[in-house]
Amino acid sequence: DWTMRAFREEEIAKIRQQVGKGKVICGLSGGVDSAVAAVLIHEAIGDQLTCVFVDHGLLRLDEAKTVVDLFRHHYNIPLVHVDASKQFLGELEGVTDPETKRKTIGRLFIEVFEAEAKKIGGADFLAQGTLYPDVIESVSFTGGPSVTIKSHHNVGGLPERMNMKLVEPLRELFKDEVRKLGRELGLPEIFVGRHPFPGPGLAIRCPGDITRDKLDILRKADAVYIDQIRKHGLYDEIWQAFAVLLPVKTVGVMGDGRTYDYVVGLRAVTSTDGMTADFYQFDMKFLGETATRIINEVKGVNRVVYDVTSKPPGTIEWE
Ligand code: XMP
Repeated sequence: DWTMRAFREEEIAKIRQQVGKGKVICGLSGGVDSAVAAVLIHEAIGDQLTCVFVDHGLLRLDEAKTVVDLFRHHYNIPLVHVDASKQFLGELEGVTDPETKRKTIGRLFIEVFEAEAKKIGGADFLAQGTLYPDVIESVSFTGGPSVTIKSHHNVGGLPERMNMKLVEPLRELFKDEVRKLGRELGLPEIFVGRHPFPGPGLAIRCPGDITRDKLDILRKADAVYIDQIRKHGLYDEIWQAFAVLLPVKTVGVMGDGRTYDYVVGLRAVTSTDGMTADFYQFDMKFLGETATRIINEVKGVNRVVYDVTSKPPGTIEWE
């Protein structure tokens, strides 16, 4: 892709000019954006870059392994893998308000990055995979008054407190362009094509209070759902699909016993930039089969519902 080849060269020059001999720290989330930003910056400044992958205990099944493998083994980019799950889950205990969850997680990310920056003798820059829609959505709702819908913690806030300047090479791009750039940089297709995953992770897919037990159930249900979608060849048609664990238990029957277990909500949408979205029209057979698999394979779940809300009026995530 000619446009992306040119973009790559231009951005590399810009990054070199901005950073000089400074040190950059880059947080990886497991998503496409931060991975593309990191690979691009690494190409520009090599080992002046340190990547940090924070496991906040809110990741999907096998997420940490996928990211660590990609960076350490595929790219040979040094990566610090921090297990901060105790700290994050501890501070999130009893927190139910979505914005408080985001703010708590944002604050803890700062603390972890600060600690990691100190270990490498200080960093001058913080790199983020901020995209154009992140910039817009954090400022105002499309076409509406200036109201913050969700305070994406990867936009603003962080660096002022951290005394670091921002490096955001993807700030003018949309998701499909980031994917093109990722391919241009040689990222494996399986990684480039991944659905977006929010920085606060499963915290915002677990409405109400977050516990390790709930997260385990959610991780398993989500993995079954995504497996179903892949097996049916639907993954690339969908912008984003994930399971949500509702803070509700309902009655069911299994064998000759009564059950009283959680409800899992399934979400799948099509979109081009995440700013508007349509719910995905699965056929009922697929949904029925998926519900059966989740209930059979995931202990603690006895009911599955499908979300048929588009955006607007719904947001993609449930919190
Ligand atoms: P919503 O739920 O606002 O999501 O319709 C739009 C897109 O943004 C992602 N999202 C987030 N990403 N931090 C992030 O890094 C956040 O706090 C956050 N909230 C939503 C969401 O997954 C979707 O792709």
